[in-house]
Order: sequence, then structure tokens, then C-alpha cells
Amino acid sequence: MKPTASPKTYRVKSFGCQMNVYDGERMAELLADKGIAPAPEGEEADLVVLNTCHIREKAAEKVYSDIGRLKKPDGTKPLIAVAGCVAQAEGEEIMARAPAVSMVVGPQAYHRLPQMLDRAVAGERATDTDMPADAKFAALPARYSGRRRSAPSAFLTIQEGCDKFCTYCVVPYTRGAEISRPYKALIDEAYRLVGAGAKEITLLGQNVSAWTGEDDKGHRVGLAGLIRALAELPDLARIRYTTSHPADMDDDLIAAHGEVGKLMPYLHLPVQSGSDRVLAAMNRSHTAESYLRLLDRFRAARPDLALSGDFIVGFPGETEAEFEQTLQLVDAVGYAQAFSFKYSPRPGTPAATMDGQVPREVMDERLQRLQARLNRDQRAFNEASAGKTCEVLVERRGKLPGQWLGKSPWLQSVWFEGDAAIGDLIEVELVEAGPNSLGGRLLGRVSA
Ligand code: 5AD
Ligand code: SF4
Repeated sequence: MKPTASPKTYRVKSFGCQMNVYDGERMAELLADKGIAPAPEGEEADLVVLNTCHIREKAAEKVYSDIGRLKKPDGTKPLIAVAGCVAQAEGEEIMARAPAVSMVVGPQAYHRLPQMLDRAVAGERATDTDMPADAKFAALPARYSGRRRSAPSAFLTIQEGCDKFCTYCVVPYTRGAEISRPYKALIDEAYRLVGAGAKEITLLGQNVSAWTGEDDKGHRVGLAGLIRALAELPDLARIRYTTSHPADMDDDLIAAHGEVGKLMPYLHLPVQSGSDRVLAAMNRSHTAESYLRLLDRFRAARPDLALSGDFIVGFPGETEAEFEQTLQLVDAVGYAQAFSFKYSPRPGTPAATMDGQVPREVMDERLQRLQARLNRDQRAFNEASAGKTCEVLVERRGKLPGQWLGKSPWLQSVWFEGDAAIGDLIEVELVEAGPNSLGGRLLGRVSA
């Protein structure tokens, strides 16, 4: 590649999960520290970071079409870095297939993006897909040490990687083994986030409930211990966490849902299937029944808990009868929200070579039926919320003048009109329920 001028503007485009959003924010900070400015809205940047997702096929293909489309206003290509899980899994292939890409950087190596950029400017192409994650966190500069403001709702990665090896999933390969960030580093980062304006923190991890650390008294604590400590931060109003595996939900975490008022009444707990045979083939280490009993215990601790889950239809060998068990499980739970996907074979995972791959039309049809049920339950949950009074954390302006959009404790989008500002906690009465959001009536400001 030819040497090129140092970029003046950057844009980080994150795809996929919330951890990518977190990583994208950290990459943006690294670039800002180098004196590069965010590109103006609607104009392509001198440097584009595509922060990719590898969880399903379509997501990976999208990277190549995005690379093809990138163009600066003068018609030339920006400097392009491919980051995230596609970079980790297919780094060499990207370098070979996409000559416009000058940097490939894996999710555990992006703290070295500034040095890679210097090399790219000098005309070199470079790939860095080193693991593991703990080196990255130790090397990243303190977050929000400057004057940047945080969004009212911020992400905080506390755990990365996964040791569960569900047979369909690439995460254990792209994000590596489970690591927990140290307690003190997390408390410090949470302080800085709150100092920069965050009112809500969502603790992130591929297997977040496997987080463990030593508190300031040297006691070993789990996720519940960390949540209790964060709840002591006076200006932090809300705590959430995602994503969990049913096998790692301990008694203390269940109890915390009943005891910690700042821990929001929402639990995202993927189940994937309602069939025990399929769950065993997925290596999920729980059954439909053990999952339902676990939810009973959470609901006993926090009766107004909203539940969310992930589902895969058309896992290899899934029969119609087994799929119907998934529908039965959905009926038994009554999810407030859910995410459902067609099985996508990922190279290198055990399920990709299993017998009985399900035809696409069958998957399409099953996904439609499943989503019809899940939509029905989401609508029912929203309708049951109408008439309730709750706090809404204001995240942005709505489309109409004087309109605001925020989130209820149950993670529903709520819009209302009146005197408010981004970051306010507003008491509203939920008056109008739609399938994807609710309309509220402003009652008063809880805090500013
Ligand atoms: N195919 C389809 N869905 C998948 N997921 C993970 N791997 C695959 C795959 N190969 C889904 C699971 C997981 C969510 C993040 O993505 O439901 O919980
Ligand atoms: Fe993937 Fe299973 Fe780990 Fe979730 S628990 S990241 S689905 S391997």
C-alpha cells in the first residue's frame, strides 16, 4: 500500500452485540486521544473501523459489502480497519480478499490500534489477532478521564470470553477463554462513568454471571457482590447485566434481584430450545424443566421481573415435535422480549458438521411461527403495563418537538411529552401500549 496522510476524522461502525458497542466506544476513545475527530454526520471519515460480528453468516458477509461501499466525498477509499469477531476468525482471508483493508485487529488486541494506524499511514498492512483479553484491559487508558460526557445509559465490560462451548457458537473461539476483569478496575471505571453523566450501567459479558473477583477486603465475590457494591454509588440509579447462562445463576444473584432496588427487574436468560434432546446436542447443560424452575426462583425473588431470551430454530436434527416443545416453553414463560434466529452453521463449530441440517424453508417457517408467539407475548406484556406508574430514564429526543424517549425499568421504550432533558429520571404513567413501545404521561421529575 502507498503511504497516506494521517487521518483527521474517524468513524467506528459497530455491529452485533453490546460488547461490540463497548469495544467500539473504547476504540473511539483511543483515536480521539490521538487527536483524530469523529466524522461529521453524513460524511465518510478518513479512517473507518468496521467492528464486526461473526455470530451468524449474514453478519460476516455484510463486512465485505460494507468495505466495497466505503467512499470518501472525493471518491477515494478511506483507511479501513476491520475489528471485532470476523477479524479474529477470518483475518487472513480478509487481508487476501479485500485489498482496501489495511488493518485487521481482533477483539483482544484493539488497544494496539493506534500503533497499527501509524504503520498503516506509512503504507504497511498489519494483522493483530492476539489473545487473551486481560492484557487489553490492563493496557487501555482510563475511561472518561477527560471532559467527554457519557450517555445516560453506559456499558461496562466486566467479563469476556466463554468456556461453555455450545456446539453452534463461535464465541469461545473468537473471544477466547473466560476472564473476569478485577473488581477494583470495575469500581473505578463505574465511578468515572457516573462522574461523566451515566445514570445506568449495564454490566456486560459473554457469560456475565460467571464473573468473579476479590473485593477490597480480599473476599471472593460473584456478580451479585459486584452489583451490591455498585449500588452504593450515589449517583448511579440503575444497574443491569447481560448475557447469562442458566448454569451460572447462583443463589446470591437471585437474592440480589429481590434486595437491590437499583438492579432493574429485567433478566435476559437465553434458553435456545424447549427440547431436551436438542439442548443436549447443543451442549447447553440445562433442560427445559431446570430452566423453568430457575425462572420460578427469580420470579419469587422479584415478582415483577420481565424476562427475555434467545432462541435458535432449525438446529441440526430438530424435528417438528421438538420445535413444538420450544413453542410450549414460550407459552410457559411469557417473555416480555426475545431474540430468535435461524440456525447458522459456523465453520469450526461441532454443530456445523452434524447430521440432519434443516432445510432453509423449514427454518423460515419455524422462525415465523416462533416470532408470532413471541410478538404476541411482547404485546401482552406491554398492554399489561398500561396504567402503571414507573420511572423512565430519558435517553434521547423523540421525533416530534417536545417529545422524549427513554426506557422503563422493564427495558421498554417509552415516549412522552413535556419538560425534561436527556439523563433525567422522569416519573410517568404508562397510558398507551404499542407492540414495540409505550406512550407515557409525565407526572414529575425524580432527579436531574
Ligand atoms: N446460529 C444461530 N444463532 C446463533 N446464536 C449463536 N450462535 C448461533 C448460530 N450459529 C444466537 C444464540 C445466542 C445469540 C447471541 O445468538 O441464540 O444466544
Ligand atoms: Fe456461545 Fe453458549 Fe458461550 Fe453463549 S454460553 S457465548 S451461546 S458458547
